[in-house]
Amino acid sequence: MDIGFLINLHSGVRWIVVLVGLIALVRFVVGMFAKQSYDAIGRISLSVLNAVVGIQFLLGLILLLWKGMNVGSAQYWGYAAGHALVMIIAIGALGATSGRVKRAATDDQKWRIGTIGLVVVSILVFVGVMSVNGW
Ligand code: HEM
Repeated sequence: MDIGFLINLHSGVRWIVVLVGLIALVRFVVGMFAKQSYDAIGRISLSVLNAVVGIQFLLGLILLLWKGMNVGSAQYWGYAAGHALVMIIAIGALGATSGRVKRAATDDQKWRIGTIGLVVVSILVFVGVMSVNGW
């Protein structure tokens, strides 16, 4: 496989992360303000987001190791590892959010925890992309 293909793939998957993330965020915000019952759209949008972000993590990890070993300069490692670190924190925050949403006792708490978590994750992903080639 060609590294350019992998970079393009990792770069393109970001838009799926953005799309699914936006759907999840809108659902959680509406659910919270309209005091709705927690539903399948909330649950599924969060699961799909976890899955897409998991794929992005694997692609990113392969890219980091592959390009890191080939370029190998301290400057490249600094540039790429900064992005990877922010994204790993974002992925951890998403996992923690999903767990807490699942365990929350009331629908109100599920929407609220999901909204706060998704806002934090969105900010981290925004910053993480800005730290490489930007949007
Ligand atoms: C939600 C998670 C992530 C998103 C949205 C994302 C997005 C991006 C974007 C947009 C780029 C710029 C690509 C380009 O040059 O066109 C990039 C580059 C890169 N990403 Fe990620 N990324 C994510 C997670 C990760 C993770 C977890 C790792 C590593 C463990 C990683 C490793 C890299 C590397 C090494 C590059 C640099 C490619 C280069 O040499 O220019 N990414 N990422």
